[in-house]
Amino acid sequence: MSEITSRLKQIKVIPILSVDSLDTVIPVATLLNDNRLPCIEVTFRTSFAADAIAMIREQFPNMCIGAGTVLTTEQVDQAVAAGADFIVAPGFNPFIVDYCLQRNITFIPGVNNPSLIEQAMQRGITMVKYFPAELSGGVEMLKLLDNLYPVNFMPTGGINRDNINEYLDVSSVVACGGTWLLPQDLIARQRWDEISQLIRKTVASIGVES
Ligand code: 3PG
Repeated sequence: MSEITSRLKQIKVIPILSVDSLDTVIPVATLLNDNRLPCIEVTFRTSFAADAIAMIREQFPNMCIGAGTVLTTEQVDQAVAAGADFIVAPGFNPFIVDYCLQRNITFIPGVNNPSLIEQAMQRGITMVKYFPAELSGGVEMLKLLDNLYPVNFMPTGGINRDNINEYLDVSSVVACGGTWLLPQDLIARQRWDEISQLIRKTVASIGVES
């Protein structure tokens, strides 16, 4: 198991953030760190992603930082230069997979069916994002895939505090990703206490080791 996989397995949940304003980046990262969740995936769905990753990396050198919704090699380069530990995409793009593999960059492609998992395995990928998890058959489909293939999964899409433990109970699940811990409306209104509560409740319910 790679170092990043073991770290994510310990952390269990990857809060996903699309940054609308750089002003909120450090407050959000601080909340995660202060509440024993030193991990974040910043999506490239907004133009602030690379700057946000660089800011978090500088302020919290030990935080586990992913870059999400990475769709081009330029975004891969920006994410790595900014200090991302791993790169995630919603789909399986062989061109991006090979680009990352050639550069020894941890890339977690999105898959939701046997054929895509086999293509990932063919290239030596050992961890895939099961996405969109709930719409693709949820935990039952995941169990079926888990029985068939020796890969690790990062389920994302429709996961929340109510169903995360069902996913974490599947042996090949490393960690679950999701946006429910960092709601955009609460961030925009700077409701840090409410976001802290969300993080604390999830950390308590999944039993994160300190
Ligand atoms: C992602 O960014 O990977 C997904 O859109 C997250 O899905 P969620 O909003 O259902 O957690």
